[in-house]
Amino acid sequence: MSSITKPARPLPPGSLGLPFIGEPPRLLDLEFLMQQYHKYGPVFKTRVLGRNIAVFMGPEANRFVLQTGAHYFSWRDGWPPTFKELLGESLFVQDGAEHKQKRRLIMPAFHRQALHHYLGTMEDIALRYLDRWAQQGSFAWLHENKQFTFEIASTLLTGSAPGADTERLSQQFVTLTGGFISVPLRWPWTPYGKALRARAALLRYIDGAIEHRRAHPTDDALSLLVQTRDEEGHALTNQELQAQTLLLLFAGHETSASMLTSMALALWQNPAAWAKARAEQAALNIQGRLTMEHLKDMPYLEQVLKEVERLYPPVPAGFRGVIETFEFNGYTIPQGWTALYPINVAHRDPAVYSNPEQFDPERFSPQRSESSVPFSLVGFGGGARVCIGYAFAQLEMKVLASHLLRHYTWEIVPGQNLNMIYFPTLFPRDGLKVRFARRPPDQ
Ligand code: HEM
Repeated sequence: MSSITKPARPLPPGSLGLPFIGEPPRLLDLEFLMQQYHKYGPVFKTRVLGRNIAVFMGPEANRFVLQTGAHYFSWRDGWPPTFKELLGESLFVQDGAEHKQKRRLIMPAFHRQALHHYLGTMEDIALRYLDRWAQQGSFAWLHENKQFTFEIASTLLTGSAPGADTERLSQQFVTLTGGFISVPLRWPWTPYGKALRARAALLRYIDGAIEHRRAHPTDDALSLLVQTRDEEGHALTNQELQAQTLLLLFAGHETSASMLTSMALALWQNPAAWAKARAEQAALNIQGRLTMEHLKDMPYLEQVLKEVERLYPPVPAGFRGVIETFEFNGYTIPQGWTALYPINVAHRDPAVYSNPEQFDPERFSPQRSESSVPFSLVGFGGGARVCIGYAFAQLEMKVLASHLLRHYTWEIVPGQNLNMIYFPTLFPRDGLKVRFARRPPDQ
């Protein structure tokens, strides 16, 4: 009897560069990625700092990484060690049954009913910030947006309103994320050493919130985590509570701040879209507080937010470790490699989006519905591990945007650097300096 062995498929196209060293890291350079996509299709190989990397691009590859082939990948093995040490043992680095169990525990804090509860607090915080911005008159909006979204995340997810500490804590997150791609030298003056100190300061703040939640449990995410017990009645350890909370605060504020900043920039650069978004708000004739019904009735604002997600996705890419050798698109991807899916490549795919470089919210209208190709819009990831905070983020962005559009106006200060930096989340280099004012009632 003759046995037929299937010939091994080749490795994906691309270059591994010099032995040991690899190629210069260009994995967040959109122009380079688009060139590779047009040249090689949905997968190419490269090597960065000794790691072999398969880069998955476009809707079909996104679907594979996020859904159909998700079992070949590990989140824990994908993220760099610096990231794991700084964020700790949290959802982001958990896999399989452990991840499923922890996600199920946290999920109720993001259900529809919980979001209903959050609306009033989100609007109170938004009104306070808008008032402050109108009084300040000019500021760097990214910095302000980070404080705004941090205050919302901390108040609603941990039950701890940071108040006067908001700016300091939000700054600690900037220092923490600065450590993600630094060399892990732990001296106090190195970026990594500073990131570790910022982590310690944030954990002290979180410890205070945990103690308070133990004494006064409610239905926020931290309370749910504090009260949870496994089958044998064991609670989560303090270390795990700290890590999950730190992750929620990190993932839950830098990203939304980035997207709000990009929205302000995009509207200012596209006056027709800005006018149309304002007209939609005016037609709603909202008197007094925002309701969920109002927010459901803003289709154009939703299209604007999708277009901002498409052109300015806050998260540049997702990392995974390959835990089992597999084939994709006729190529072998070996176990032990790292996989990466850059989010913005599918978003600029001319086979999906007409004039992909153009800001055009109507592309998401029911008539055109350009994102109907599955996994062509993945600013929040996709599949079973899609962003847990998607609806939370949409809610806070819509609340702020509705007030901005109805009552305020802004101008971008000339002469600043608007080039986009891709890491840790997308932002214009100078943080978007603006002049900001309340709009006279009849304009
Ligand atoms: C504009 C805002 C946001 C954007 C663009 C965003 C983006 C993303 C993306 C792309 C992923 C998947 C990454 C991957 O596949 O590797 C993700 C996952 C995640 N996000 Fe968000 N996110 C946002 C807001 C939030 C908020 C508000 C929270 C929580 C309060 C949050 C918590 C998380 C968590 C915990 C995960 C991991 C989920 C899991 O592994 O099960 N995010 N997010």
